[in-house]
Amino acid sequence: MESFDVLIIGSGLAGQSLALRLADTHKIALVSKRHLEDGASSWAQGGIAAVIDPSDSTNAHYEDTQIAGAGLCDPTATHFVVDHGAQAIQWLRDQGVAFTPDADTAWNMHLTREGGHSHRRIVHVADATGAAVQETLIDKVRRHPNIKVFEDYVAVDLIVGHKVGKVEAGCLGAYLLHRTSGKVKAFAASHTVLATGGAGKVYLYTTNPDTSTGDGIAMAWRAGCRVANMEFIQFHPTCLYHPQAKSFLISEAVRGEGGLLRLPDGTRFMPKHDPRAELAPRDVVARAIDFEMKKRGIDSVFLDISHKSPEFLHEHFPTISARCLELGIDITKHPIPVVPAAHYTCGGVFIDIRSRTDLPGLYAIGETSCSGLHGANRLASNSLLECVVFAEAAAQDIRANPRQCPSSLPAWDESRVSDADEEVVISHNWEELRRFMWDYVGIVRTNKRLERAQHRIKLLTSEISEYYTNFRVSNDLIELRNLVQTADLIVRSAMRRKESRGLHFSKDYPLMAANPKPTVLNNPLWPKTLPRWNT
Ligand code: FAD
Ligand code: SIN
Repeated sequence: MESFDVLIIGSGLAGQSLALRLADTHKIALVSKRHLEDGASSWAQGGIAAVIDPSDSTNAHYEDTQIAGAGLCDPTATHFVVDHGAQAIQWLRDQGVAFTPDADTAWNMHLTREGGHSHRRIVHVADATGAAVQETLIDKVRRHPNIKVFEDYVAVDLIVGHKVGKVEAGCLGAYLLHRTSGKVKAFAASHTVLATGGAGKVYLYTTNPDTSTGDGIAMAWRAGCRVANMEFIQFHPTCLYHPQAKSFLISEAVRGEGGLLRLPDGTRFMPKHDPRAELAPRDVVARAIDFEMKKRGIDSVFLDISHKSPEFLHEHFPTISARCLELGIDITKHPIPVVPAAHYTCGGVFIDIRSRTDLPGLYAIGETSCSGLHGANRLASNSLLECVVFAEAAAQDIRANPRQCPSSLPAWDESRVSDADEEVVISHNWEELRRFMWDYVGIVRTNKRLERAQHRIKLLTSEISEYYTNFRVSNDLIELRNLVQTADLIVRSAMRRKESRGLHFSKDYPLMAANPKPTVLNNPLWPKTLPRWNT
């Protein structure tokens, strides 16, 4: 058994910033199921939203977030995040992140614009912000003597006191599978933090990396925590459409800097869908593209920025220009074929303003959590900001509330399992799940489609649970089990919402209801005798 003050599961921006904030005073385990740099954070392009320009205001950022969130953003969480925006950017600069400069401004950072923002307020590192931020933090993490990095370790499940017969209540750590040796080990910790990112891989088409399989959400649910707003899956309007390009995003900043959406014959179509045209929030743009593609039977629409000078494009979008050129698309001359794809999980593990879940000792931060900031639709570039702000909130709470680390934990029991006989069960079920989620629980939903999806999820759940009980765990099995669990939570939440709002659009309930509420799924596994940590 390994023992730590803080066990952080996930090495994206949320996990790494928490590790760095606590490392001077706490012994940290930082776990990544692949390498530290693998995760959505390294793929972020556009940037981080924050009020930097004095002619902008946190009230305006708050309003923009609320408008995008379609009436469901939690006011306290939203104020908390936008009010800490400038501080979060300063912290990243202090760590050494070199944001794209702008010598003409007093703050010397270029601010770009994205859909839904009423001001230029996105700080960025050209069009590869996430990679630059992660590289800087990883370097610091690897050099810190109090942070022990566990790469290629995948968390299987949380260890919960009352479930393993321990007197200590709450979360005591987690079981982690070492992917290369196949061994599962217990990690004990005073505080455990889920920072496992989103669940985009539940859909056939996604901008997300392979690591985004909803693990934290599924583990927290199995441990008895509540989850919220899972029906709100954000589809990014502009993922590159090319047979050789798996999951490559064309940043919203391209539209922010003047990119226009066109049909194959060159006609613009956004102005007829929304007065904000290409700068409408992404749910509006994604639905408009979906509508045009289905109506015309076309495979993609086109994003055209070729009217800007080649110098401008190479300076602002070097990564996008280079990737497109590799595939034979010269963005200085030709429009880029794009389609919508699953991009961001707005819902997740229900947390409070201190990043605490329901389970004592367990925190959730970043995309795996639901802080209430995003409501029914996330405003562009608010998620990296949320990662940094809620990591700091968790750090403060952990510092202020020391807990005992369990001295022993039950070992992982493998006495009744054998090696898997047919791996094809996993790959087949994985394919099937992602396809029906795309077809039935995608951009446009109906009661019938949700019922069909739910029926299939029930079948998959029972097959996977039998497989899990009888065979040794593997990374693929763990991910599939979590994806099916997450899909179930998405469908259940979507069925509860009898209206269309933000990212949830139902043909059966096309209008917005009065007095909307977040969808909070109460967990039937939570014993009535135990108080919740997060009230
Ligand atoms: P991630 O960065 O996804 O990290 C999750 C970590 O958890 C990974 O290290 C993974 O290996 C690990 N993990 C997962 N499951 C397990 C497990 N079971 N055991 C152990 N480890 C596990 N947002 C913005 O604000 N601005 C942008 O410009 C922007 N651009 C984006 C571009 C793309 C292509 C994508 C996909 C997203 C973008 N987003 C952007 C969203 C943003 O990047 C993510 O929401 C954010 O990075 C999530 O950070 P995170 O730390 O929560 O998770
Ligand atoms: C993008 O660059 O379009 C992604 C921004 C985001 O997801 O916030």
